[in-house]
Amino acid sequence: AQHAERQAILNILRLSHEQLLEVKKRMSEAMVRGLSKQTHEQGTIKMLPTYVRSTPDGTEDGDFLALDLGGSSFRVLLVRVRSGKKNKVDMHQKIYNIPQETMQGTGEELFSHIVDCMSDFLDYMGMKGASLPLGFTFSFPCDQSKLDQGILLNWTKGFKASGCVGEDVVTLLKDAVRRRGEFHLNFVAVVNDTVGTMMTCGYEDPKCEVGLIVGTGTNICYMEEMENIEVVEGDDGRMCVNVEWGAFGDNGELEDFFTQFDRDVDDCSNNPTKQRYEKMISGMYLGEIVRNVLIDFTTKGLLFRGKLSDRLKTRGIFETKFLSQIESDRLAMRQVRSILQHLGLTTSTCDDSVLVKEVCSVVSRRAAQLCGAGLAAVVDKIRQNRNLQQLSVTVGVDGTLYKTHPHFYRIMQETLQDLAPQCKVAFLKSEDGSGKGAALITAVAYRIQNGEQ
Ligand code: BG6
Ligand code: GLC
Repeated sequence: AQHAERQAILNILRLSHEQLLEVKKRMSEAMVRGLSKQTHEQGTIKMLPTYVRSTPDGTEDGDFLALDLGGSSFRVLLVRVRSGKKNKVDMHQKIYNIPQETMQGTGEELFSHIVDCMSDFLDYMGMKGASLPLGFTFSFPCDQSKLDQGILLNWTKGFKASGCVGEDVVTLLKDAVRRRGEFHLNFVAVVNDTVGTMMTCGYEDPKCEVGLIVGTGTNICYMEEMENIEVVEGDDGRMCVNVEWGAFGDNGELEDFFTQFDRDVDDCSNNPTKQRYEKMISGMYLGEIVRNVLIDFTTKGLLFRGKLSDRLKTRGIFETKFLSQIESDRLAMRQVRSILQHLGLTTSTCDDSVLVKEVCSVVSRRAAQLCGAGLAAVVDKIRQNRNLQQLSVTVGVDGTLYKTHPHFYRIMQETLQDLAPQCKVAFLKSEDGSGKGAALITAVAYRIQNGEQ
């Protein structure tokens, strides 16, 4: 009886082929709404123009600074690109910490901190006072009307610094540089992490026209036909669109898929009612869904002998790395148990370990399937744009969940194949992060700005 009761709860989190097809369909509709001039404002997914018009062609050249803000680590990089020499990109980087108080303090504090780290980095590289063009990977939704400007529309994930929404992040950064008075910035390109990732991977594979992130948050970008991007003048060629698909569902498009567990996670988040699709998929939230399911099992007496520990009530204990470890096939149940013990869930028996592992796998399977359904909508859109029977495309991917989870990739790919059978999709993991791609974008923009060919 207990078994049936457990399965009944888990079944709420299982999705059928029909349901996934429906997600794909609604995502396709939301994309079209986001691109159209009339419905753009009301749309949940914003389909933001990025002003990136082509993937890399190997002629990019120069030395660039790059910032990578918004993922699980904040990095400052020096990227040296040499044209003509394919794969000749030299990178040096340093990772810096951003304290939680800074992420959620004032914008001035946040940007001053970023500039302090840049200054430390220049010192470290022996380049104090240098002034280089900067590729700024800023992984949040920005309204862009050109490459060197980005108005922050809203914060997502763990960031909440005041005084930034509605402001141009390039101005905020330049103001902070001026306050410090040590170096100056002459050109700053604002780049979403999906776009940086697409460009990083595009340098290796010219067929890479999609950038996907499955990390702290989730999002995608792809090369769209200019004529379909109604909010931008001009009909020729293509432009990369930052889909911001994390916000899919914020107008109720996923209402029939949300469970009580999703609602609990949403209620306790930094941004209730927002980023609903992201909250079912990405690393910042999956562990929280699992924890809420475990709490439910425990209060029903189906787990941990019905004893709800303070530890289980603690937010954030299931980080992505624990989910990935628990689900690893190489792990014996004894080891799962020791991970649980490490997490402070000490009363667990062997049966408990089996159940916790099952909960993790149901939750991450749903995430991978939802992500695959969204991806199916994106690649099918590219195929239809080009009037093709069969599309062959590469997706550049980054993000800790995607890279460390033992099954996410396989399940996402199976779902994609099932839902977009006319697309042959290759996946290329970004090994270099988005900073390299941001530098390549900066190289092209800087060259154009300076009137060179
Ligand atoms: C990094 C990219 O490698 O992956 C970042 O350089 C991106 O730009 C990040 O934000 C996403 O993954 P995570 O897991 O760090 O959020
Ligand atoms: C969030 C951000 C988006 C970013 C994604 C992955 O969804 O809004 O801009 O690309 O996280 O980091």
